[in-house]
Amino acid sequence: MLWPKRVQTVPEIRTKLPGPQARALIESDEQVTSSSYTRAYPLAVARAQAATIEDADGNRFLDFTAGIAVCSTGHCHPRVVKAIQQQAELLLHMSGTDFYYGPQRDLAHKLAEITPGDDPKKIFFTNSGSEAVEAAFKLARHHTKRQHAISFFGAFHGRTMGALSLTGSKVTQRRDFSPLVPGVSHIEFPDCYRCQANQSGQACCWKSLSDLEDKIFHKTVSPHEVAAFFVEPILGEGGYIVPPDGFHQRLKDLAERYDILFVADEVQTGMGRTGKMFAMEHWGIEPDITCLAKGIASGMPLGAIVAKQEVMDWGPGAHASTFGGNPVSCVAALETIALLEEGLIENAARVGKFMLEKLSALQADQPLLGNVRGRGLMIGAELVLDSNTKQPAIEQCQEVVQRCFGKGLLLLSCGDSTVRFCPPLVISEEQVEVALGIFTEALDEVTEMDQQRL
Ligand SMILES: Cc1ncc(COP(=O)(O)O)c(C=O)c1O
Repeated sequence: MLWPKRVQTVPEIRTKLPGPQARALIESDEQVTSSSYTRAYPLAVARAQAATIEDADGNRFLDFTAGIAVCSTGHCHPRVVKAIQQQAELLLHMSGTDFYYGPQRDLAHKLAEITPGDDPKKIFFTNSGSEAVEAAFKLARHHTKRQHAISFFGAFHGRTMGALSLTGSKVTQRRDFSPLVPGVSHIEFPDCYRCQANQSGQACCWKSLSDLEDKIFHKTVSPHEVAAFFVEPILGEGGYIVPPDGFHQRLKDLAERYDILFVADEVQTGMGRTGKMFAMEHWGIEPDITCLAKGIASGMPLGAIVAKQEVMDWGPGAHASTFGGNPVSCVAALETIALLEEGLIENAARVGKFMLEKLSALQADQPLLGNVRGRGLMIGAELVLDSNTKQPAIEQCQEVVQRCFGKGLLLLSCGDSTVRFCPPLVISEEQVEVALGIFTEALDEVTEMDQQRL
């Protein structure tokens, strides 16, 4: 059973948004919280269950964001909550860097078992995705004794200095923070929808990698100085872009040719999100290092890197984290993984396929809907002004997301103009129908608004 009790599937908006309680909360929050936060719309959450969010005024929303692809088992899954409660009474913290305790040991064994590849593995625990990427970057340099790294335009790897240096998504994320960590080169991530040369279906994939060889390796950086390739299996923040089949294998072949480590950033794609435990399984890739966070503990802060044992060869003191591998987060992760294995991954694959088909079917009647793509419950709908020029419909995308919020459906955007759908993995086909009904209404309204402006 995915969810033990019957939960509300239909949103219900009772007040003008934001309602009085939400407005008061937002005003007082904004007096003291960082101006860098990007709140897409005025949602003040009071509580949540499964895929339903209730705001401070009692309005109910259908959540297709899962707290940015985090609440994998749904909000407050009773089994996850119970595991947290029981652990909280036993031990809250003791620092896994300095001492031993069962939940960290158990989770490390479990992660070593479920990540792709039969080689012996070692795990380092962090609190977040950025820290996982940061740890992978340090480990790659430490192990290879090489300085350089290659990542992708459009990639998002986090915001700490090392992770930010690998990020190539939006200039606002990097502006005024230089100098960043030196030694990172970015190359194109293949986007078949936008690839001009892509008549054969795969040209963009090969071009990106031949540019790496012809331009970077032959002109600026020797491959023998490159420690690692950092790659998201599917671009997340950069637009939910699925690379063509063969791309990751070619990149892996190049990595092996030059003894470069292949680091998979599965922070967003991992833990069942794409209908497999790890997205790299779609292409049969066994990375040298896998970065995890987000969905791993259903909302508790936790990240990890899983590396081949021969790669994680640093000595005591080389890297550590006070809170990484916190026991409460570790038991939440163990329960999350159990639920994923008991049926949530299968649900993500089945409902994701259903949703992708339904969204694709909308394209015929929706001129704004340029491209629909994804795997499992990581689905992007790219909005364009014209299907020939594929010019991103940036304003329209934001307007659609706003209107959906007004109607009780929570969505976020990614890339320039892609609506991202990443609901909790407990979502049902019935809830997908409701969400797509709202999404269609919003698209209709925005299309009409555009026509009136002409
Ligand atoms: C692929 C990927 N890597 C790394 C990160 C950074 O994770 P965090 O925000 O937990 O630091 C994100 C966050 O969106 C991500 O999507």
